[in-house]
Amino acid sequence: MEALSALAALLESGFNLAFIGILEVLIILLRSDIVDQGNRVTPVAPKDMSPSYDYIVIGCGSAGSVLANRLSEDGSSTVLALEAGEDEPPISDVPVLTQTLQLTDLDWSFKTEQSTRYCQGMKGHRCNWPRGKVLGGSSVINAMVYVRGHARDYDEWRDAGNPGWGYDDVLPYFKMSENISIPELENSSYHERGGYLTVEDFRYHKPLTKFFLQAGRELGFNVVDVNGADQTGFTLAPGTLRDGLRCSTAKAYLRSASRRQNLHVGTECTVEKILINTTTKVAYAVQFRRGGEVYTVHARKEIILSAGAIQSPQILILSGIGPREHLDELGIELVHHSPGVGRNLQDHVALGGLTYLIDPPNGTSSNDFGGSNTLTLSALMDFLKNATGPMYDLPTNEVLGFVNTKFTDGDLNWPDIQYHFATLSHNGRASSIIAKRNNNLRDEFFDSLWGNIIDHPAFEMPPTLLRPRSRGYITLRDADPYSPPIIVPNYYDDPHDLDVLVQGALIAYNLSQTPTMRLLNTRLNPNRIPECSHFSLPSEEYFRCHARFYSLTIFHPCCTCKMGPPRDAMAVVNSRLRVHGVKRLRVVDASIMPNLPSGNINSPVIMIAEKAAHMIKEDWSSS
Ligand SMILES: Cc1cc2nc3c(=O)[nH]c(=O)nc-3n(C[C@H](O)[C@H](O)[C@H](O)COP(=O)(O)OP(=O)(O)OC[C@H]3O[C@@H](n4cnc5c(N)ncnc54)[C@H](O)[C@@H]3O)c2cc1C
Ligand SMILES: *[C@@H]1O[C@H](CO)[C@@H](O)[C@H](O)[C@H]1NC(C)=O
Ligand SMILES: *[C@@H]1O[C@H](CO)[C@@H](O)[C@H](O)[C@H]1NC(C)=O
Ligand SMILES: *[C@@H]1O[C@H](CO)[C@@H](O)[C@H](O)[C@H]1NC(C)=O
Ligand SMILES: *[C@@H]1O[C@H](CO)[C@@H](O)[C@H](O)[C@H]1NC(C)=O
Ligand SMILES: *[C@@H]1O[C@H](CO)[C@@H](O)[C@H](O)[C@H]1NC(C)=O
Ligand SMILES: *[C@@H]1O[C@H](CO)[C@@H](O)[C@H](O)[C@H]1NC(C)=O
Repeated sequence: MEALSALAALLESGFNLAFIGILEVLIILLRSDIVDQGNRVTPVAPKDMSPSYDYIVIGCGSAGSVLANRLSEDGSSTVLALEAGEDEPPISDVPVLTQTLQLTDLDWSFKTEQSTRYCQGMKGHRCNWPRGKVLGGSSVINAMVYVRGHARDYDEWRDAGNPGWGYDDVLPYFKMSENISIPELENSSYHERGGYLTVEDFRYHKPLTKFFLQAGRELGFNVVDVNGADQTGFTLAPGTLRDGLRCSTAKAYLRSASRRQNLHVGTECTVEKILINTTTKVAYAVQFRRGGEVYTVHARKEIILSAGAIQSPQILILSGIGPREHLDELGIELVHHSPGVGRNLQDHVALGGLTYLIDPPNGTSSNDFGGSNTLTLSALMDFLKNATGPMYDLPTNEVLGFVNTKFTDGDLNWPDIQYHFATLSHNGRASSIIAKRNNNLRDEFFDSLWGNIIDHPAFEMPPTLLRPRSRGYITLRDADPYSPPIIVPNYYDDPHDLDVLVQGALIAYNLSQTPTMRLLNTRLNPNRIPECSHFSLPSEEYFRCHARFYSLTIFHPCCTCKMGPPRDAMAVVNSRLRVHGVKRLRVVDASIMPNLPSGNINSPVIMIAEKAAHMIKEDWSSS
């Protein structure tokens, strides 16, 4: 096969994005399970859409796909789901390629505004903020980690004036969405079989994962189900996977509904605004653009906005719902003054780029211990022919750890730091190209940390701050729906955030000094960031300085249209996710969270959408 020899040549010459095109051809030829021709959604062109539907869902991401499915379960309701992107490509199924999906057509490729306090190692002092632009949204480009957060996170949502959102209330919706396919968990009361979203262990793990788990035990952390009774501890990362491949919400929820006549899905349809009657404050139609034409479709029952934490506030503001002064300055007619739209922005920030060097045990291949060249021809053949091997690996997140720093009350057992253990590092020949590009790193910055250790076996375990106190915001540059919003994360604005993160780095260092890790002669990369090199390594002062340069997003922006009672002026939606002050309009996605849960947020977003679909059906059946 010519394609194979071309591929072999590319692999020998090091990592090259061109190989992805060839791989795509091979998948189409050899992996009909990934192509999944019979089940994929057939998009409906605007000319074939009806003038009106019962429900219009804006955005087919993690939340929107769930809503499209659940609201069309009742064959007598009609649903239109509008998505700016196209269907998932075959390569997004392949776990090991996850990192290559950013900054492609699948990504909105947002950037934060320039800062003087964080993202200092990045070009223009701006961090990349990827967001999925594809059926399935960010669940198509995410790292597939399945984590729900801590029970207490949801009890706090409830206690902030949101009845129905305590842990006991939301657990049934987590379970309803799930098809647990991890044998040890199949009988757990925290898990369920029979949902659309398959949860599995990754099919391939590098030997280093055993070292991480053992090092955790040596520091006193058991291996636990982090989605069960006790979150504190270590685990192999559970994945939103089906047969070892990505299980996006498009695969889970849209393909399973693709034969329904009452569900229309429009792709490459970019919503520009929601039309709202200014007298009655009733949302009645959606205006979108496809291929240069503008269309308007009416909603008989309601409109559900699920464009994600950056674009749901954007679309609300474009539609006249937001802070009055901001709408005035943009020249957009005010429909409803809602000062909280775009505020309360939260994200999980990690201390990135702390690399630990190791010496692999004698007799092992350095490829298994942090070397970069995992995409060998034999790995590819194994993937294409046997559906096994290293291409089923997710090297950035193989093991997770949840720990309490000295700042949490130990009795609460409410971890404030999460680790994502990566069996690859910035200095790998292949991984360096992607890490530099995805994280927008400056050349001098990269070279100062990794230039002289390229391909030395290494790993990383960035500590993530689980409950930031800092708040950022999203505003619009102008009234053009195609201008990327202004994103200001305000990382470390509250000094406590950096204090906690630094503790996370110190615990990680202690982990590197456990007997198990010493077997690998684990040591911190001696290279320091030049601007921080007056501090010794390791030290609190050094980590504090480093964190301002390598502020690594864990990709969980949320909370920009927060849920809360009417007495809270900053609340945008109520506990039934209806927009305050406007009728027949809900927001359902990561933006409605009042606060970040203590973990990765894809499964919480899916839970929110499952619960919202239930509430929508309930509200319309009782009216
Ligand atoms: C790189 C990356 C890695 C991540 N890793 C993990 C992980 O391992 N585990 C985890 O739990 N979480 C992870 N996350 C986070 C998680 O995937 C997201 O929080 C979640 O998918 C958000 O769901 P959502 O429905 O709010 O938004 P999205 O899934 O982003 O959906 C929004 C949808 O709306 C569409 N849209 C936006 N504007 C318009 C418009 N004007 N017109 C039409 N359509 C529009 C978008 O194209 C998109 O499809 C990651 C995210 C990223 C980006
Ligand atoms: C789960 O329960 C079933 C039925 O009782 C049993 O056969 C199976 O072994 C149990 N699995 C585990 C992992 O305990
Ligand atoms: C759940 O996963 C199992 C494999 O673990 C599979 O056999 C079953 O069909 C799945 N159920 C659904 C509803 O997808
Ligand atoms: C708004 O609603 C009022 C009252 O029902 C109606 O008279 C008016 O025509 C509506 N305006 C638009 C633009 O639909
Ligand atoms: C590995 O091999 C080197 C060189 O042969 C030797 O010096 C070292 O002691 C060995 N390490 C272990 C742990 O066996
Ligand atoms: C496929 O699996 C078989 C049996 O485990 C093994 O012998 C073979 O080497 C594998 N093929 C590739 C290309 O790795
Ligand atoms: C790291 O280990 C040292 C030595 O055991 C201990 O004194 C210190 O408190 C630990 N640091 C953290 C943050 O746990």
